[in-house]
Formats: sequence, C-alpha cells, structure tokens
Amino acid sequence: MRLDLFTLFPEILSGYLGQSILAKAIERKLVEVHLHDFRRWTKDKHQSVDDRPFGGGPGMVIKVEPVVECVEAVCNALPASGRLILLTPQGRRLTQPIVEELAAESSLQLLCGRYEGFDQRVTEILQPDEISIGDYVLGGGEVAAMVLVDAVARLVPGVLGDQRSCVEDSFSQGNRLLEFAQYTRPREYRGYQVPEVLLSGNHEAISKWRREQTLERTRDRRADLLDGSGDSPVEPDRS
Ligand code: ADE
Repeated sequence: MRLDLFTLFPEILSGYLGQSILAKAIERKLVEVHLHDFRRWTKDKHQSVDDRPFGGGPGMVIKVEPVVECVEAVCNALPASGRLILLTPQGRRLTQPIVEELAAESSLQLLCGRYEGFDQRVTEILQPDEISIGDYVLGGGEVAAMVLVDAVARLVPGVLGDQRSCVEDSFSQGNRLLEFAQYTRPREYRGYQVPEVLLSGNHEAISKWRREQTLERTRDRRADLLDGSGDSPVEPDRS
C-alpha cells in the first residue's frame, strides 16, 4: 500500500512512522510512505502557507494555492489513482468498517490541516473524503492521520505476524464484542493470579471462558454495541 501524507510538519509524522510495527512494515516494503510539505509549494519569498481569514476572526487559514498545487502534482504522478482523505473534525467519524474499506485501497493520500483549517476552496477543488477521528478538536490533522495510518496498516496482509490477530479485532466486520483479558508470566504477581482455566491446557474450556469474558465485558462496558441493531451479537470464528 502506498501512503502520501501532506502536512506543514513532516517531522511529527516521521517520528511516529520510524517506530515499531509501522517502521517494520515500511522496511519490508509492505507499506510505502511519502511525506510532502506544503511549504515547498509556496512561491513568495516568505514561503507563507497561511493568512488572516476574510471577514475577520481569530487564527489563520491555510492558503489554497500551495495545497492544491502540491496535492495535484503528487496525485498526477501516482501510478494509479488513490483515495484522497482530509482529516477534519467536520468529517464522518472513523470506525473499524471504514478502516477496513480504506485498507482495501492500493493508495491513500492524507491531507493534514493546522490552525483554523484550510481555505474552503481546497475542499471544493480537491473533493476529498472528509474523516474525523472523534468529536474533539486537535491542534492539527497529523495525529489524526497517524491514527488512521496505524489502524489501516495493521490490516495490510503481512504487517501483523499472525493475521488472526486482526480478524478477531473488536469492531471489525461482524464482531461487535470487546476482547477478553490476556495474561502472561508470572502466574502470580502481588497476590493477583492468572485465572486457573488459562493454565489448564483444556482448549475447549479456555474458548468457553474467553467467550463468556467477551460477552460480560461488552455488557458491562459497551452495552450499546449489543443493543444497537437489536440483532444478537455475531461472534467471531476463533477456530
Ligand atoms: N483535526 C483536528 N481535529 C480533528 C479530529 N477530531 N479528527 C480529524 N482531524 C482533526
């Protein structure tokens, strides 16, 4: 999968992309990431990317020309057309089914805003798919883009060691249940024990315990996931 990220602060992104699962995915060429700085597309000597809003008001607005010209140049040079996404609190809310839909694309272009956002003509001209990561306002779209990239990249075949770990994810297609509790060594810590059944070697009993955990946790913490559609929850196939 190819990812093109457009931002005024590429360093915010390169730090995150250089660690852990994402860094390995990039090194193994399962994910290819290109960072683009709008500032390089400015034409004035001060390299200004923002300006005061027409009509007055606080803050600054990102200018239309460097953004549109940068995105168009990159998109026109792509080997295949991808999907352009603008991270904004005004977009539709990101969910696991949307993440799955995006993971099926061969390339994504992510636009990260700052300040009071982009000049409205950026949206009118480029017509991006507008996505929000939740009902709160961040200082910029970079962290939101990293949330999206992190969630999408782990679904790219080969990125996770064991592909089952994402098939069983909470919120993935057909699974509206939270995950069961996990334990590792030691068996006892400060008097807290690992549940006996997990040490029993009895796979049937372990599956039953996990199924029960999953239902109980969902009922306690996110009952809305169970009663949302009125359907009985679909359990993931853990075989
Ligand atoms: N930029 C600022 N806040 C955001 C949010 N909640 N989601 C996506 N992009 C954003």
